[in-house]
Amino acid sequence: MNSFATTTDLRQHLNPLRATHKIGLIPTMGALHDGHLKLVEKAKQENDVVVSSIFVNPVQFNNPDDLARYPRTLEDDLEKLATVGCDVVFAPSVDEIYPEPPTIRLNFGELEMVMEGAFRPGHFNGVGIVVAKLFNIIQPDRAYFGQKDLQQVAVVRKLIRDLSFPIEMIRCPTIREEDGLAMSSRNRNLTPTERVQALALYKALNLAHDLLHEGQSTAQAKAAITGYFANLPHFRLEYVEVVNADTMQLVNEVLAPGQTAICLAAHIGNVRLIDNIVF
Ligand code: PAJ
Repeated sequence: MNSFATTTDLRQHLNPLRATHKIGLIPTMGALHDGHLKLVEKAKQENDVVVSSIFVNPVQFNNPDDLARYPRTLEDDLEKLATVGCDVVFAPSVDEIYPEPPTIRLNFGELEMVMEGAFRPGHFNGVGIVVAKLFNIIQPDRAYFGQKDLQQVAVVRKLIRDLSFPIEMIRCPTIREEDGLAMSSRNRNLTPTERVQALALYKALNLAHDLLHEGQSTAQAKAAITGYFANLPHFRLEYVEVVNADTMQLVNEVLAPGQTAICLAAHIGNVRLIDNIVF
């Protein structure tokens, strides 16, 4: 596995390969877990060269404490990537990516009026800027993103269309711990007690899923989740929404199979967690 910290070195390595090799990219912020590694494994099956980037992108953090607390475990990450056959790691410094603060602004319109866009102002501007930079630097044929961040998938899809990136985006399923908690780098910041309590997100989503399955309305499913968290004093539910899984538009009724997503965000202690299921 080759690891590079500068754009120049990375390009020097990749440029001669481009004509004959399909390149798959998995952008990450490190603190890698099996959810990330599954993306690498899938990319490995579908491409000749797999590049994983590790960069904690300051521009997408709307909360400075969240940025400061974000886990950084580069050595450990490199070991994990090597075990799944990652070919190239790009782990640049903040100065390498942002020699000066970016002044460009990306606006994803309706896509970012709800959920993460509404509760984390500027977040998707920052995601869009760094993903566009990584696309330009690495020029992959395919890019792999997790359903865990469903709204991010929609934002990146729009970025690809709006800026004509010749890149195929591949959405991969959410990988969960054995008990159902969605894997997340932020889970490392949970205390052991909070880790047990955090399962409530998955339980609430399953509750809503079952209600929709029984034919109850999306409003009833949302109300059930709100009620569920109202009984959990250590949690603060930030939002729960039922949306079109592609457009992120709020929906009042269940759409075709695989089209309706129930998404939520909740705070437990200092940690903010998100999760979703597609119905
Ligand atoms: P990060 O949170 O590190 O996630 C990197 C990729 O892994 C994202 O596509 C995310 O959806 C996916 N992922 C995270 N947890 C997952 C899980 N449990 N199952 C499946 N996939 C999972 O998302 C980001 O970083 C950043 O916003 C980034 C795109 C790198 C831009 O900075």
